[in-house]
Amino acid sequence: MELKVELGSRSYPIVLGHLAQLGPSLARERRPGRCVLVSNEVVAPLHARAALASLKGAGFEPTLLQIPDGEANKTLQTWQGLVAKLLESGVDRQTPLISLGGGVTGDIVGFAAASTLRGLPFVQVPTTLLAMVDASVGGKTGVNTPQGKNLVGSFYQPILVLAAMDTLATLSPEEFRCGLGEVLKHAVLEGESFFQWLGDNAQAVLAQEPQALEQAIARCCAYKAQIVAQDEREGGIRALLNCGHTLGHALERELGFGSLRHGEAVAIGMLGEAAICVSRGRADSAWTGRLRALTLALGLPVVAPAQLKVPAIVQATRHDKKRAHGILTAALPAGPGRVTLSAVTPAEISVAAQAILPPEAECPS
Ligand SMILES: NC(=O)c1ccc[n+]([C@@H]2O[C@H](COP(=O)([O-])OP(=O)(O)OC[C@H]3O[C@@H](n4cnc5c(N)ncnc54)[C@H](O)[C@@H]3O)[C@@H](O)[C@H]2O)c1
Ligand SMILES: [Zn+2]
Repeated sequence: MELKVELGSRSYPIVLGHLAQLGPSLARERRPGRCVLVSNEVVAPLHARAALASLKGAGFEPTLLQIPDGEANKTLQTWQGLVAKLLESGVDRQTPLISLGGGVTGDIVGFAAASTLRGLPFVQVPTTLLAMVDASVGGKTGVNTPQGKNLVGSFYQPILVLAAMDTLATLSPEEFRCGLGEVLKHAVLEGESFFQWLGDNAQAVLAQEPQALEQAIARCCAYKAQIVAQDEREGGIRALLNCGHTLGHALERELGFGSLRHGEAVAIGMLGEAAICVSRGRADSAWTGRLRALTLALGLPVVAPAQLKVPAIVQATRHDKKRAHGILTAALPAGPGRVTLSAVTPAEISVAAQAILPPEAECPS
């Protein structure tokens, strides 16, 4: 299956398929020659061989480079090390740089592609569900700094995205579920039809049945692609994709990044943000009930860890990168396809936080 991100002369295809399609897909975009495949120490041993074979089979001469794994290594140091290796290996402006890995690898390699020689052709081969439905589409690249996540980077579109669904076979169930948090977000954003479909197919998607999985990924990519086509640099409508993230990021920040998985934090965050809609009279409890049920059906949590406290969550949103002029704007889900950008007050964040914390333990009588 193939989709397209329409950005004029920088439009690119999203191919949903398997790793063996890498070489032939790239050969449609660029004349075969040298290219560099970058992966990490976890994914390379599992999947680099198949990727290299496919590239060679299509006439490319690939070199393999490795970067360290994990969010903790999504740093300027890793970026610098990668750029140094690229320059030492004598890449030129025609040398495609291919990322093989999850969102962390894609963000680092994308930023190296954007910056090395002021821009190398960049190819995304996402190998996590989260990267397939979210990180690999749309051209956001970058690294973390001690000041916060994703604070250094650039918008830089790939020339090709190949969602290699066969690589998901080696992904841990926890990482897979994390990706489902972003699938749920896309379903909430797109509207009733995707939301209902996901409810009807939750078991099949969870079981990674190929047809259901492909449909889910395709619908997410199609939704994100049309948002990016309208608002590439997040001047407006693209901010809708932050649904669940205002609160989700606050939870991650309070717990320390990594203790709650990102997709889980987003799922819980959407429930809290939906509670704000209820408090405003824009939604009723039937909506939060439906959202809660689908969240659970996808194996995602609906309450935040008990050690969190309301004031700390409210405080954590003060660090939100999307705050402007002291005003916090969130993408509030009032129903499927009814997500709107709106300024939220600390009192409303407090309402959201209360909605997602476990009820106080009752005193034994
Ligand atoms: N650029 C964007 O628009 C965008 C959007 C959303 C998220 N992100 C970024 O994406 C990152 C999260 O991405 P992620 O969830 O993919 O995390 P990740 O890249 O850290 O991958 C999770 C783990 O799974 C491993 N892995 C990857 N593919 C595998 C496979 N097929 N088999 C076995 N193991 C595999 C990875 O090596 C890693 O250990 C964050 O840094 C986030 O900021 C970026
Ligand atoms: Zn996210």
